[in-house]
This record gives sequence, C-alpha cells and structure tokens, in this order.
Amino acid sequence: MYFIGIDLGTSAVKIILIEEKGNVIGSTSKEYPVYYPQPGWSEQNPEDWWNATKDGIRELIIKTGVKNGDIKGIGLSGQMHGLVLLDENNNVLMPAILWNDQRTQEECDYITQTLGKERLTKYTGNKALTGFTAPKILWVKKHRTDIYKKIHRILLPKDYIRFKLTGEYATDVSDASGTLLFDVENRKWSKEMLDALEIPYNWMPKCYESTEVTGYVTKEAADLTGLKEGTIVVGGGGDQASGAVGTGTVKSGIVSVALGTSGVVFASQDKYVVDEENRLHSFCHANGKWHVMGVMLSAAACLKWWIDNIINFNGSSITYEKLLEEAEKVTPGSGGLIFLPYLMGERTPHSDPYARGSFIGLNMTHKREHMTRAILEGVAFGLRDSLEIIKELNIPVNEVRVSGGGAKSVLWRQVLADIFGVRVDMVNATEGPAFGAAIMSAVGYGIFKDVEEACSTLIKVTDSVYPIGENVSKYNEIYQIYRGLYKALKDRFGEIASIN
Ligand code: XUL
Repeated sequence: MYFIGIDLGTSAVKIILIEEKGNVIGSTSKEYPVYYPQPGWSEQNPEDWWNATKDGIRELIIKTGVKNGDIKGIGLSGQMHGLVLLDENNNVLMPAILWNDQRTQEECDYITQTLGKERLTKYTGNKALTGFTAPKILWVKKHRTDIYKKIHRILLPKDYIRFKLTGEYATDVSDASGTLLFDVENRKWSKEMLDALEIPYNWMPKCYESTEVTGYVTKEAADLTGLKEGTIVVGGGGDQASGAVGTGTVKSGIVSVALGTSGVVFASQDKYVVDEENRLHSFCHANGKWHVMGVMLSAAACLKWWIDNIINFNGSSITYEKLLEEAEKVTPGSGGLIFLPYLMGERTPHSDPYARGSFIGLNMTHKREHMTRAILEGVAFGLRDSLEIIKELNIPVNEVRVSGGGAKSVLWRQVLADIFGVRVDMVNATEGPAFGAAIMSAVGYGIFKDVEEACSTLIKVTDSVYPIGENVSKYNEIYQIYRGLYKALKDRFGEIASIN
C-alpha cells in the first residue's frame, strides 16, 4: 500500500510517494514562477500550480512503477493564507495573492478598528496581519470591485488542488486557522467574523480535520494524473502544521524550526493557548490539537535572493555549496556585520510590512563571505525572536527539530544551535510537509490510529548539532545589538518604503 503527500510550496510543488512503513519510494518536484508586480506584492497563478501538480503526479507514478490501485490515499499540504477566487463556473478570477504579500495594511487597520483587538482575539485567537486571507478579501472588495462581484468560492492554495482532484470545495482546520475567519478554539468558521466583514458564509469551503476524508479523485482528474478514480483525499494541513507532523512535532516540549522560504518556529500544544499580545499565531494543529508559531517572512529566501539577485546577477553560476564553504571560514559574528532579514517586511515579531532588509556594520575588510555568513546569522537571530516569545509564555522547549531547504546546510544548523543555545536535531524524514501530508492520508486510510502513533512509529532523530559554548556567549551579545536595530530603524524603514 502506498500514500501520496503533495506540498504546494511557493517555489515548487513537491510530491512524494511513501509505503505504509513510511519509506519514501519516490519523489518529484516541479517549479513555477512567483510574480512581484509591485514592491510588497506577491502573486502566483493557480493554473500553474495545477499544471505542475498533475504533471508531477503522473511522472511520479510512472517513475516508481507502482500500480495506481495500490495508492490508497492522498494528503495535501501547502503554502498558507493565499487567496484563490473562483467564479460560478469555477474559473480562477485573478492571480492568487500569496502569504507574503504586503498590500493589505489598510484593510488590517480597518479590521482591527471595526472589531477591536479583544473581540478579534476572542473570535479568531489572532490579530489582523497583512499575510492573512481576510484582509486580502477586503482588498479585492475595495480595489477590484468587478472581480469581487463575481466571487462564488474562496479557496486556500492547496485546496485549489483538492478541488481539481476531487471537485470538492474543502479545507482543513490548520490552514483555515490562517484566514482570520476561523474560530480556532472551536475549530469551525467564525460566524461573527464573516458577518462583521460581510463575507458570505457560502463562499467558504467545508472544513475538516486533517485526517478526515474530504473527497475522492474524479474520473477527469484520474485521466490527467494517472491516479485511480475514487482514491481518497484527506484534509491535510497548512505547510507549517504538515511540516511539524513530518518532523514528529506533535507533543508539548518539541519545537520545530522550518528553514524554508519563510522561517517558522513552531510549538505543539495539547491545549488551546493564546499569546495575549498576539505576537505568535495560535492555530489548530493537524493532530486534533493546537500550536503556536512565529513566522518570519524571508528565511532561506534571503539566501536565495543573495545568490540569484546579487552573486549570480550577471549569469555566473556560483553554487550554494561554494558560498557556504566560504562563509564557514568566517568567524561567528561575521567580523561585525549584521544582516536584518526583512526583505519582504516582517511578520513575527514586528508585524511591519514596511521593514526592509539591511546590512549594518560594513567596513573595508568585509568580503562576500562575511555577507553570506551575516545572512545565515541574521535569519537565525530573526528566528530567535520567536523562540524568545515562546519561552516567555512558559512553553517548554526541550528539543528543537529543524527542517526545510536551509536545514541541509550543516553550517546553518550550527549557527542556529549557537544562536539558540540549544541542541538542534534533524530527523530521518527529510521530506517535510509532503511527508506530513502523506502520513495524514495513511492515518485517514486507517493504517495508524492517529497522527501521534504514526509519528512515533515513523520518525526518529538521526543527527544532532550541539551549541558551542564560546559561540553562544558571543552570539548572545550580538543578539542584544540585533534586537535594538529594528527599533532604531523602524521609522526610517517607513520613510524608505515610500520611496519609489
Ligand atoms: C505561515 C506562512 C508561511 C507560508 C509559506 O503562516 O505564512 O509559512 O505558509 O510557507
């Protein structure tokens, strides 16, 4: 018996096939573009997602040679918060507005003023943030009235793939949590929020727990993908909840760090917990429980920007390996150079769409290796900001598990261990959210009793990086300087962001 996990990421869709003991039989990945039509805007075409996914599934089935009838279930994971709008004929009305798009500050202010911070926290467990889905809907209402009038359905990114596979409009509780229209404590759409923002209830997809069956592969989708008609598709989860399942972060005490395009510090919670100041998101987890998390908008994306836009801008092809090799030779602290990773503004802890990336402290001795290392360190300091809030809330941090593209670098893992001052583990399952989603479908099919049982059976720690005492002390000092820099520059960032 086999299971498929699909993770609809921001740069690519990753599709994996596992067998029931959790071994990965094959995987495939297909890229698609992100469009940045204006500074702070970020969009993708849902049709690109579907084309990549259907081709990927077909390729994976052919490549692995498994019989499609032996594939018993599919789990979906994906980038969260994005807004996909369908008209009454299920045509996509406009490019999806993504999780890291920053155009909606006015709408966030409107939501906060209309509901008041207290009611917002009571109804949703969260505050209005530019990345979330509700402000995006209000933005379309104000700026694209023509499109707003034609809306028939609203979907989250991975749920567009579900729709294409099964014909169902459905989502899961973890992804729904990031819309600001969801009652996270009671795990259902918030009537209060939908009413207050005048969003029709019937636009919203039906909401399921992550391991519940949401629909079956249609004949049309079967013809396009090579899947068997009738295969189950379970709820799945937002990429963070799915990634956490993929690293076994499903009980209190385990904190996971995802070093992907975004950077996330995620703590699993047995009970619903809200940070009174709303610095962390409080969302439903994919195991029937909850989690808190801090999200930085540009993590590994900073390194990608550095290599694509700066290092290789003229067509040269310096590799990540080469850059990281150079950076390893630089002493911790990058010779007094600090990088602020706010290339797309920042979410946790600053909630500031106007924050900007910066190198601070440049001097004549610095070379590109200092700058590369400063990027690794700046991202780790940004993640530490979230870890500090988690500790402040007395959430236990017994173990940190790291995943995502950035975690492949031993150097970056060491920098993280030194800046966090804790051991950083990797687990045997390195396929991240796609693996988590595949696990959810195996649970949904009945192979495991629940997500916890699946995780404890399938996921083991395989590698640990320990903090080095003298680096920890040095980074503790630099972290205090790092913390002060955003405060010092906040007003200037606002001015700079208004320059065209
Ligand atoms: C989570 C978030 C990102 C996206 C993209 O709140 O915004 O992690 O899901 O990966």
